[in-house]
Amino acid sequence: MDRFKIEGGRRLEGTVQISGAKNAALPAMAAALLTSGTVRLQNIPHVRDIITMAKLLAHMRCRVESPDIPPSEFIIQAEDVSHAEAPYELVKTMRASVLTLGPLVARFGYARVSLPGGCSIGARPIDLHIQALEKLGATISVEHGYVEARAERLRGTTFRFPKITVTGTENILTAAVLAEGETVLENCALEPEIADLAELLVKMGAEIEGAGTPTIRVQGVEKLHGATHAVIPDRIEAGTFLVAGAITGGELLLTDCEPGHLTAIIGKLKECGVEIECEGNGSLRVRAAKKLVAADVNTEEYPGFATDMQAQFMALATQAHGVSHIRETIFENRFLHASEMMRMGANITIDGNLAVVTGPTPLSGAPVTASDLRASAGLVLAGLVADNTTWIDRVYHIDRGYEQIEVKLRDVGARIERVTASS
Ligand code: UD1
Repeated sequence: MDRFKIEGGRRLEGTVQISGAKNAALPAMAAALLTSGTVRLQNIPHVRDIITMAKLLAHMRCRVESPDIPPSEFIIQAEDVSHAEAPYELVKTMRASVLTLGPLVARFGYARVSLPGGCSIGARPIDLHIQALEKLGATISVEHGYVEARAERLRGTTFRFPKITVTGTENILTAAVLAEGETVLENCALEPEIADLAELLVKMGAEIEGAGTPTIRVQGVEKLHGATHAVIPDRIEAGTFLVAGAITGGELLLTDCEPGHLTAIIGKLKECGVEIECEGNGSLRVRAAKKLVAADVNTEEYPGFATDMQAQFMALATQAHGVSHIRETIFENRFLHASEMMRMGANITIDGNLAVVTGPTPLSGAPVTASDLRASAGLVLAGLVADNTTWIDRVYHIDRGYEQIEVKLRDVGARIERVTASS
């Protein structure tokens, strides 16, 4: 198992190119199941979850090819899907495999997808995906750890999500595009990845209005065709590097990002005193604060402050003057990184879904363990300012969603290396 070795205390300076968004690429890849035509996806990040999704599509007998190494473009053709099943072995490593449920049942009338089960940040059920598919006319049974969905053809309906869900919205949108008649989805997630998915679907011939707003209207069509689409930049990777610049007292230029998707994150970092400027053409410049001050954060659905940036913000808060209250409202158990940061000397108390961080405290390098994707990013950031050496175990979590984070950090001056189990 790989580990990261970080020698903290280096000021970061230079340019970082932001990759495509994993969370936009995953539903886009699943959407390729909706047509026998060729779907060409560009700006795909080279991260573990994407490889898992490619494996899953290949397991279903789709053609999945890439013209370059490492792949940034995928050519997917789901002409002959003889195996409409997402097996446990793949779903357990990546919950987003569930995104294949909607497209499979919509196009082939049958899908069998393993229930994802819990994960380290909470229970994460898919009951709302199932409720909405039933409302669209699918017959669903849950047996032996699998969801089986059947339908002759899905029928348009009105469905109001009782709770906002990102992949739930995506799954049902990708089912509704092939349903008979009109579907109205209410209380949809507003994340930019939804609008990006809708853009791809429209290029494939779908009729969709309102993606990116709470109400999405879909006029179902009988068939979709191939398309080419470049996915949006990764706003969480960009946010993570904004914090990397700020926490190390450095100055970074981020290119290929979409500042409009980062409004809440930029606003919060500015409240802490961090200087951030848009430089046009999708570039952001971050300069560390003259004096970093504490700020309170509640994680919220988009356009609020993303839960996927909470661990990174906590790392920053350990270095800010004053008391930061960080409230996690999306997931029930997303503070596992806090206890690791405390082992590095951070002053954090946890009370239910509230973390109170008092700073600044000098962090000292320590062996720590990553518990999930974004927690590992938070620990890397803490390691960048800690004295001596920080060892981070289980970096496979970070490889799920960050493209070569250690290389990007090293290129701007960090001392971080990947140590493989055998070395
Ligand atoms: C997506 C993102 C993830 C991000 C999260 C919240 C992808 C691949 N992943 O995850 O990075 O952290 O949004 O922004 O895009 N819920 C239910 N029943 C359901 C579905 C969700 O109770 O059927 C609950 C969840 O347990 C959670 C909340 O709703 O408490 C939001 O989850 P959701 O938006 O579905 O997260 P994901 O789509 O899994």
